Amino acid sequence: MRIAVAGKGGAGKTTICATAARLLARSGQRVVAIDGDTNPNLHSAIGVDSQAALSSLPTSLVSRRFEGPRLTASIDEVLRWHAIAAPDGVRLVRMGMPQHADEGCMCSAHATVSALLADLGVAPGTVTLLDLEASPEHLSRGTARHCDVLLLVAEPYYRSLEAAKLQASLAAETSIERVAVVANKCRQPSDAAAIEEYCERHGLELVGVLPWSEAVLAADARSRPLLDHAPDDAMVAALGTLFGSLVVPDADVSTRRAAPEPTLAAASSKASL
Ligand SMILES: Nc1ncnc2c1ncn2[C@@H]1O[C@H](COP(=O)(O)OP(=O)(O)OP(=O)(O)O)[C@@H](O)[C@H]1O
Ligand SMILES: [Mg+2]
Repeated sequence: MRIAVAGKGGAGKTTICATAARLLARSGQRVVAIDGDTNPNLHSAIGVDSQAALSSLPTSLVSRRFEGPRLTASIDEVLRWHAIAAPDGVRLVRMGMPQHADEGCMCSAHATVSALLADLGVAPGTVTLLDLEASPEHLSRGTARHCDVLLLVAEPYYRSLEAAKLQASLAAETSIERVAVVANKCRQPSDAAAIEEYCERHGLELVGVLPWSEAVLAADARSRPLLDHAPDDAMVAALGTLFGSLVVPDADVSTRRAAPEPTLAAASSKASL
């Protein structure tokens, strides 16, 4: 199952991905966490120090010779070569980031993540969490086009909700079947009520409400993962409940689509038989 997490800048995407990835791994799931932000910081939220997190997915892993970008190696090989070991058994993969000024766009880095996500759909029993960047451009690039669920994180203020609505309307033009809003940083019942009302008015599914948490800020200030800093925090409990209900066995993923074509590597070995 593949869950992508998007939303306005600073809404809490990385905090949510990092904490949920480790909680799911602790509950026995095989978890791959992908940092899909060209300004990467999922590693520090998850508990991998920056020296260990230097490697990122090379864009040479992808070919466009077939329909859409496809990985040129098997998913097992890609994970073996490029995944970084993170706490609780999570495997962390990072999208490429700009190495120099004036290098041009990051299209091929996004295409690599898109291809990886496609092939993770045929990795049985794996839960993939993709932490996206704030810009809605990932939708025009199709970075998360192969996810089963797109979560849009929104804070209780108008511009954050408008950003979620924009991304939901773009996602409606894709084949992503479940798009849902997660309310974050809710300090009081009226925050959640306002988001609920907004979602109802605009036909958006509200799948969860996460509390404002001083512990999240304190963990960030110490550059520690929330789960290590405050394992009993209300935010951790709320994330456990939310993702416990979102993640269903592969066979039950109602949004499951046809398995992707084999990788180029597998296809060419078949062709040579
Ligand atoms: N529930 C919460 N309560 C209080 N602060 C929070 C909560 N969730 C996230 N934050 C804080 O909000 C800030 C942004 O969080 P985070 O980096 O997870 O957001 P993001 O959406 O990934 O940001 P970006 O768009 O830059 O990638 C951080 O300072 C984080 O500590
Ligand atoms: Mg982030």
